[in-house]
Amino acid sequence: MVPCFSGSRWKGCARSRFRREANVVIERATPGALGYGLIEAIPDADIQFYETNPPLPGISGRAHIVFALEDEEPRPPRVGRFGWKSVLPTMKSFTSDAELNEMGLTNQQLGTDNDPNGNNDPACDDAILDPELPQDPETLLYFTDRASFFLRYLAAPPQTPRSGMTGEAIFDSIGCTACHSAAGPPS
Ligand code: HEC
Repeated sequence: MVPCFSGSRWKGCARSRFRREANVVIERATPGALGYGLIEAIPDADIQFYETNPPLPGISGRAHIVFALEDEEPRPPRVGRFGWKSVLPTMKSFTSDAELNEMGLTNQQLGTDNDPNGNNDPACDDAILDPELPQDPETLLYFTDRASFFLRYLAAPPQTPRSGMTGEAIFDSIGCTACHSAAGPPS
């Protein structure tokens, strides 16, 4: 056990530890967050169009069909976009998932804490009423909604000035625009 907050009642519980028998350990590279609202705004059908209409020979793929955490049952299937494996389809799902899994904050969509090492040890329970993230009494919005709005409207970084720059032309000429297309599928 790694004692993280010694003296607190969570001593030894606040961080997962590597098991002795673990023989694969990876470092985590966090994806960016800028311009994600634009990715969210692409219609599912536009992404699915390219499953059957490859932009270039040899460039093909499958949409990852998943569910939004905020959708009510029966949840409609949606195209995943966020997370390394496109496991989440919306900014709200992405935010809820990050709140619980990166910060340990339960929310409207994910209301149960993940205990260290998945052991459900009651000694590790933070004893805080779930969901931990609050509702704003004035707007009645939940914290997750407000954080999602913020993230959704974070602008993509500006393009460098075009004059005298060859980057865009090279990007196009070496085939990057087969996937990183500025336009959607032909209508
Ligand atoms: C076969 C399709 C495909 C081609 C061709 C392609 N990309 Fe990508 N690229 C992707 C996908 C999909 C992602 C998103 C990966 C993710 O976030 O999980 C990505 C992500 C990126 C990112 C990271 C963007 C960010 O903000 O996180 C960069 C930079 C990038 N590509 C550059 C290039 C360059 C330069 C080329 C041409 C040499 C290229 N890509 C060609 C599919 C492609």
